[in-house]
Amino acid sequence: MPRQIIIDTDPGQDDGVAILLALGSPADVEVLGIVAVAGNAPLPRTALNARRIVALAERTDIPVFAGCARPLLRDLVTAEHVHGETGLDGHDFADPTVDLQPRHGVDFLIEALSGPHAAVTLCFLGPLTDLAMALIKAPDCARGIREIVLMGGAYFEVGNITPAAEFNIYVDPEAAAVVMRCGRPITMLPLDVTHTVLNTRERLARIAGLGNRCGTAVANMLNFSERFDVAKYGWSGAPLHDPNVIAYLIDPTLYAGRTVNVAIETTSELTRGMTVVDYWGVTERPANVQYLRSAQADGIYDLLVERLGRLP
Ligand code: RIB
Ligand code: CA
Repeated sequence: MPRQIIIDTDPGQDDGVAILLALGSPADVEVLGIVAVAGNAPLPRTALNARRIVALAERTDIPVFAGCARPLLRDLVTAEHVHGETGLDGHDFADPTVDLQPRHGVDFLIEALSGPHAAVTLCFLGPLTDLAMALIKAPDCARGIREIVLMGGAYFEVGNITPAAEFNIYVDPEAAAVVMRCGRPITMLPLDVTHTVLNTRERLARIAGLGNRCGTAVANMLNFSERFDVAKYGWSGAPLHDPNVIAYLIDPTLYAGRTVNVAIETTSELTRGMTVVDYWGVTERPANVQYLRSAQADGIYDLLVERLGRLP
């Protein structure tokens, strides 16, 4: 039986690729809904972009909700310098053929998690604001969480938006701190993993060579968003971030790590949003996160290319 999942996302080209990977894998994951959150771009943009992606894949049956428009406490920080003005630059999308759902995304999360037999896997590809709000508004909904799988954090690879912090955690560190304490299983795909999964020319050519609409869109999106990171890091390709969340759900053997304590820095401005990972167990803090640290990049791309090839 496929896992029931909800994707909370701030598209963002890599978010879009993650959503398409999920839509190309119906035997592995059943997407109950998509919640857009402010992050890479303001909420109106990320909500529009989520609608664009489901329309591209001809999956307008999947409900798209708007979540929170700003972090719990802090002003919103966005990343148009990476993702472009629209948040999804690089590919010319048709206007989406599906409207936003009228309910707030946080209320959708609470409702989906509150059923008597709910066992939903929550996939977080952006800031954790929506989940923190749901846990604060309706704490009992945590019972319906099977697992939280999130792209975020860094430890051995340090930060990308500051020297200390990864973007998703940095944008809303207070929300991340609420989630780390929720008591449900958490799996983290940090920069330590994503910085080893690179969009090399050869890999992007394989995706472009699929010849279908979704493959072409993915190649165009990644060719745009990678220019910033290739210039920054000088690597053979930009890191592929969010699709690792879905690839992990489909084939967890592609990844390895250990369950350790992860805590979030929320007071210092210098290290705001740092994920403090007790990887060697030097404290008594509870082991609350499966912190993944390595990945099989070739296997991940083989999976991504194969599943994208199943889409329109
Ligand atoms: O740090 C990478 C993360 O920030 C990814 O989720 C990317 O989409 C941006 O949101
Ligand atoms: Ca994202």
